[in-house]
Amino acid sequence: NFDTTLKGKKILITSGRTKENIDPVRYLSNNSSGKMGYSIAQAAADMGADVTLISGSTDLKIPNGLKNFISVESALEMYEKVDEYFKNTDIFIACAAVADYRPKEYKKEKIKKSDSDLVMELVRNPDILLEMSKKKEKQLLVGFAAETNDIRENALKKLGKKNLDIIVANNASVMGSDENVIEIIRKDRTSVEISQKSKMELAYDILSEVVCELEKR
Ligand code: C5P
Repeated sequence: NFDTTLKGKKILITSGRTKENIDPVRYLSNNSSGKMGYSIAQAAADMGADVTLISGSTDLKIPNGLKNFISVESALEMYEKVDEYFKNTDIFIACAAVADYRPKEYKKEKIKKSDSDLVMELVRNPDILLEMSKKKEKQLLVGFAAETNDIRENALKKLGKKNLDIIVANNASVMGSDENVIEIIRKDRTSVEISQKSKMELAYDILSEVVCELEKR
């Protein structure tokens, strides 16, 4: 399936889940496997792009043929790395499941249990994709919306709010699976639905849409 339709294009991809440390032995995270983002990174490299993959935690093997692979832990670290690469990228695909909140305070020593309940204060993490959309120049932006309900409606809201060129909507309940059903929605609100397929096949479908959007420019 080798192809060169993205030859010379710089693509920045985030994938995986972030970990927000609470103390030396505990963290907040989520169920994202990182498979969709890693599949997109692999497909983009196969299509000839210069791929930078910034990854939170996953159990996956690093795709072949990447230009850069950068491993990060927290949302703040991911934000800093994305910010560093964004200016010099043509396409930014935000696939990572970034924690929306982090503990206000990191405890240097393991928190001891007591007989009473514990209240932990959380503070907002930056929305990486939203922040990049404010700095957008020529970059094509692709976001994901994993929703449990009102999937299309929520995806359209994010498309507008984050000034995206494409949003890929899917049902959040499939997190971790090797296959998915998605709807690719373009900024003109036209869309295509793609039925059950492997994430690798979906990666090629998503990148074909990216190529189409680039050709419209
Ligand atoms: O608003 P929501 O988190 O559902 O938006 C999902 C999209 O935004 C995904 O593309 C995700 O990678 C990105 N995102 C981000 N930084 C965050 C939260 C979400 O880049 N802090």
